[in-house]
Amino acid sequence: MKNLVDASHKVLMRIASTDVHAMPYSEAVHLAQTLRRLLNTHNHRYHVLDAPVVADNEYDRLFRALEQIEARYPDLIAPDSPTHRTGATPLDRFERVRHPAAMLSLGKAFDTAELEAWYERCLRGLRSRFDEDVRPQMTVEPKMDGLAVALTYERGKLVLGATRGDGAEGENITSNVRTIPSIPLAIPALLVPAEDSGAAIPPDRMEVRGEIYIRHRDFEKLNEAAAAAGDKLYANPRNAAAGSVRQLDPSITASRPLSFVAHGTGPVEGVEALPEGQYALLAWLGAYGFPVSEHAARSDSIDEVKSLYEEWLRKREELDYEIDGLVVKIDRFDWQEALGSVSNAPRWAVACKFPAKEATTVLNDIKVSVGRTGVIKPEAVLEPVPVAGVTVSSATLHNEDYIRDRDIRIGDRVVVKRAGDVIPQVVKPIEEVRSGRERTWEVPAHCPVCGSELRKLPDEVDSYCVSIDCPAQFIRLVEHFASRGAMDIEGLGAKLAVTLVEEGLVSTLADIYGLWRRSEQLIALDLFAEKRADNLLKGIEASKKRPLSRLVFGLGIRHVGRATAELLVARYASLNALSRAGAEEIEQIEGVGEVIARSVESWFAVEANRNLIECLRESGVNTERLPEEAPQTEEDSGKATGKTFVLTGTLPTLGRAEATARIKQAGARVSSSVSRNTDYVVAGENPGSKRERAAELGIALLDENQLLALLDG
Ligand code: IVH
Repeated sequence: MKNLVDASHKVLMRIASTDVHAMPYSEAVHLAQTLRRLLNTHNHRYHVLDAPVVADNEYDRLFRALEQIEARYPDLIAPDSPTHRTGATPLDRFERVRHPAAMLSLGKAFDTAELEAWYERCLRGLRSRFDEDVRPQMTVEPKMDGLAVALTYERGKLVLGATRGDGAEGENITSNVRTIPSIPLAIPALLVPAEDSGAAIPPDRMEVRGEIYIRHRDFEKLNEAAAAAGDKLYANPRNAAAGSVRQLDPSITASRPLSFVAHGTGPVEGVEALPEGQYALLAWLGAYGFPVSEHAARSDSIDEVKSLYEEWLRKREELDYEIDGLVVKIDRFDWQEALGSVSNAPRWAVACKFPAKEATTVLNDIKVSVGRTGVIKPEAVLEPVPVAGVTVSSATLHNEDYIRDRDIRIGDRVVVKRAGDVIPQVVKPIEEVRSGRERTWEVPAHCPVCGSELRKLPDEVDSYCVSIDCPAQFIRLVEHFASRGAMDIEGLGAKLAVTLVEEGLVSTLADIYGLWRRSEQLIALDLFAEKRADNLLKGIEASKKRPLSRLVFGLGIRHVGRATAELLVARYASLNALSRAGAEEIEQIEGVGEVIARSVESWFAVEANRNLIECLRESGVNTERLPEEAPQTEEDSGKATGKTFVLTGTLPTLGRAEATARIKQAGARVSSSVSRNTDYVVAGENPGSKRERAAELGIALLDENQLLALLDG
């Protein structure tokens, strides 16, 4: 690691002191090669290991130097040059490619009994061939809900990326896979692979198989951007990933936040020793620089695998990506071979699926609700039905077009689906079982809450209640303002928002901060015990210190989601500054389009909104940008850049969240466990065993003051 950092800084100094454009060819050849290797290694550390060791701007400077050299001497552009991840020309169509070895699918087990039956079959198969009392080990991996791809490397260079297609033949999507940052263009992707990993020299030819997928948080941002641009929303991360990978123009693929994880190999040629089993293979792929699942486990007993299944069934919502089950594989490759395949699925592996998150039920009615922007949202009133362990009785129908496009009618039997922790949705009607008594649905002409006439603009998919006095909108706004992603006011949820507004305790957002003066009225409310009122007031007080972007998001400005709020705050240091900015200026921010910019400008143009901000400020709500919300500048890359910190115990003044934020702001990383890669352990009061572990490993210990000094320095 130290070598990598030293080598990078040496090159940074060199490019700072030479005119790269004027460099003689012989020198340029050498420097270009060094830059490529450094950049590919940093890229791997950033995107695969999540452990960068140089600041973003240092990476950018190295990148620019390579671009300059390649512009001056185009023959130095190599296939593994990180400057050429994007930039391939759009295709007319995808070429078909034959897989050298079929990409199989997997047999399925739908519960632990079927899993056990699979295992028994494997045991019988193995015991009939080997007269020993075999007890095969198994490797258990999450089954990623993505898109299968095969990546071919020749002498360490990525030469082909192909979709699975029908298993025998797929499509050539090389230019698209090259744009995915976690896919190495050259292997080993690390400058110095671990010494004993055997990954120093790449095989002559190797095919790596895995999944392309989109993380939940990236998916949310993608849909937020699509909504702001007035584009159609993606139904789920898998569809978004599949659609992104099958773009004829690689620059579109490049703009999508795709991730990759490897789970196996196809044919491998010209390598001294291949690992002997699946679990070791994953480590081997990791050593070459491929992302592999951090949750893969090896097990000796089917009972243990069954408990892993139960465990992941509970924990799957905690992951930042969708998994639809576990893949269980007999670990040893020679035993896999002995078991062989049936038609298109191996006997040695099984996909142990989680219960579907879909069910069918009757759509009893369609009601509309009024959102915080006045948007009218149709909601399905369903005959209650269990979906993957949760009883669902209502679901979203998105908007009028959604209902019309799918011809969903009241009385229909419909498919409902739950995905991630989002609200259930109605997927489609089952037209085959219609009785003829189903009714089509029309958007009501009037707001169900305030009775004013609804409007629909020609280029919008939704109808709106545009009355400024509509209480439904305001209730939703209060709920949104207090929600976890915004001001995170503990104790203020949907129900209480209704009560506060209906009881006249809150009629502008700023009234929330005056509630302490009315605690008697609060306690008098039916749902309030004194203690609860007290907790609510504490929650309100605590929310005054939230980062500015949370407040900007919480204001409920149309089209301003969380990600957009962060962009706005990175550009404007206070709410005041943002309120004075015009649409044209706001539009200059990368990632912010015209629609958003106009929406922000017009929100601040409303006098009531300007008064609101003033009242919030007077109540002591933070309206200034916090240090961690500022954009990173070159000067920011101090001593902590690229370092790994572990926190333990209670810090005297900084909370854990703030300490973490500050460390990250300094370009460093916070990890939860101490290892040899840890640079500093920050210990507060009552530190845990981490402190001892740090002492054992000889890792520097800091107290809060020392941490602050280091971050400032
Ligand atoms: S092994 C012959 N491992 O699931 C073995 N597949 O339903 C084939 N998948 O086409 C694949 N996660 O795209 C394997 N950890 C994992 C996987 C995985 C997802 C996909 C894969 C395959 C499909 C089969």
